[in-house]
Amino acid sequence: MERTFIAIKPDGVQRGLVGTVIQRFEAKGFTLVGLKLIQVSRDLAEAHYGEHREKPFFSGLVDFITSGPVVAMVWEGKGVVAAARKMIGSTNPLQSEPGTIRGDFGIDIGRNIIHGSDAVETAQREISLWFQDNELANWSPTLSSWIY
Ligand code: TYD
Ligand code: MG
Repeated sequence: MERTFIAIKPDGVQRGLVGTVIQRFEAKGFTLVGLKLIQVSRDLAEAHYGEHREKPFFSGLVDFITSGPVVAMVWEGKGVVAAARKMIGSTNPLQSEPGTIRGDFGIDIGRNIIHGSDAVETAQREISLWFQDNELANWSPTLSSWIY
């Protein structure tokens, strides 16, 4: 089953949006298979955002993501990578549709609450960067026949 990496960034944690985000993914029908709250190291932040290393916003982005606790999660389900990106909304919250997480709760591109992997291969890379195998649960809800 497909998996994606989701992180609630320091602004989302500070603003008390952890429960709201988890609620939306649970209600959609996706399964939580990994969850931890961590203070992100500079090494992890730079590896996670490696594709943006040359961008002007890179150092500010790394400063921000290491500025407070982050909730790192792995969610599982059919089409979860693309579905999560839709639920999250566009990178700039002012351009995100209402009903998306960024569209409902954010204003600034540098404080956009949540990260979600942008493709299945990216998700695999990010999951192995953030989680050990033994931190992930292989399970499915007993009532999953009511979702699929
Ligand atoms: P990106 O991977 O383009 O966006 P997304 O999170 O939607 O996949 O960029 C990573 C993060 O970098 C983004 O969530 C917020 C930050 N960022 C800026 O601060 N300024 C910018 O101009 C861009 C494009 C991103
Ligand atoms: Mg991205």
